[in-house]
Amino acid sequence: MTSQSQTTPIAPLASARRRILTGVQPTGDLHLGNYFGAIRPAIQLSQDPQNEVVLMCVNWHALTNKALILEAGTQTPKMLATFLALGFNAASNSLLVQGDFPEILENAWYLSCVASVGLLERATSFKDAVANGKDPTCGLFYYPVLMASDIVSFDAELVPVGKDQAQHLEYASDLAKMFNHTVKTPVFKEAKAMIQETPLLPGTDGVRKMSKSYGNTIPLFTDLKDIERKIKDITTDSKSLDDVKDPDTCVIFQIFKSFAREEALTHMRQKLEHGVGYGYGHAKKDFFQEYQEVFASKRDLYNHYLNNPKEVNSLLEGGKQRMKLVAKSVGARARAALGLGQE
Ligand code: ADP
Ligand code: TRP
Repeated sequence: MTSQSQTTPIAPLASARRRILTGVQPTGDLHLGNYFGAIRPAIQLSQDPQNEVVLMCVNWHALTNKALILEAGTQTPKMLATFLALGFNAASNSLLVQGDFPEILENAWYLSCVASVGLLERATSFKDAVANGKDPTCGLFYYPVLMASDIVSFDAELVPVGKDQAQHLEYASDLAKMFNHTVKTPVFKEAKAMIQETPLLPGTDGVRKMSKSYGNTIPLFTDLKDIERKIKDITTDSKSLDDVKDPDTCVIFQIFKSFAREEALTHMRQKLEHGVGYGYGHAKKDFFQEYQEVFASKRDLYNHYLNNPKEVNSLLEGGKQRMKLVAKSVGARARAALGLGQE
């Protein structure tokens, strides 16, 4: 009997909903850039009943930076609390922790056995580490395979990511294709990338994108004093109180746009354009006030979830069970195609 005829056919999705999967690394306090570029879009997708969103806290990926290896453990509960507090609908979608799914590691191994070393050497994550004089670990080298496995292990159809992840997505579908071709069976689904066109939010330095790695962030839920200080640190030019200021080049306004409500936006735009009696100090005060108002109830919820891990676990349990079934059936397909025994 050929391996093909032993293989369980790819099961259709349980419903007509599109399965959309994405992952975020728990490597530091989530910030407005993450909110604007990743969290808010994922939450909006989770609120559309036609979608089945699988949002994964990829804590194994977060171990690939040796210097931050202990961050993943601390940051995972904070990330889950953040997503829930900001409105991720975990009842009909899935909020997962990668580390709960050893099935991902098994499928990653199968994918790595068809991935050439050359392909992984060309991965930007690896090349950047080498170019920056870092001493990359095997974990970092393996990173794109693990990410491909995150995607195929849940039969994901669509994967929303920023432009910086486009190459990883190509790898994911190439590896799925290579594996299927090698075992002559369509085991792994080839997911499509949904590349987010949203521009990157600048950091408080006004030079680089807002990023944990550049220390130029406005975090979402850290201590309010810390947030106020970071807002005060936002770079400005030397225009004085009464000068006319251009909101479209003003870093304060550019960051403000990522979360402020319509009325507050119009107010700040008009004040900056008018200039008279409205300096950057005033804009920063308005920024902080709006920040507190927009995130006040969410901050309370965040603290509530952080202090009630059992409640968080029970909110996540349904999605975890649903996705366990999917990951197990994908793993079974791979084993059958390889002629390996069942678990
Ligand atoms: P960081 O650069 O802070 O480490 P990550 O690389 O972990 O952030 O990104 C997590 C998600 O947030 C990704 O989907 C990424 O596209 C998005 N993201 C990160 N920074 C920004 C930004 N400045 N503007 C928009 N989206 C961002
Ligand atoms: N590599 C992604 C990032 O750094 C995170 C990630 C891991 C991911 N696994 C994924 C994104 C699966 C989408 C799908 O942003």
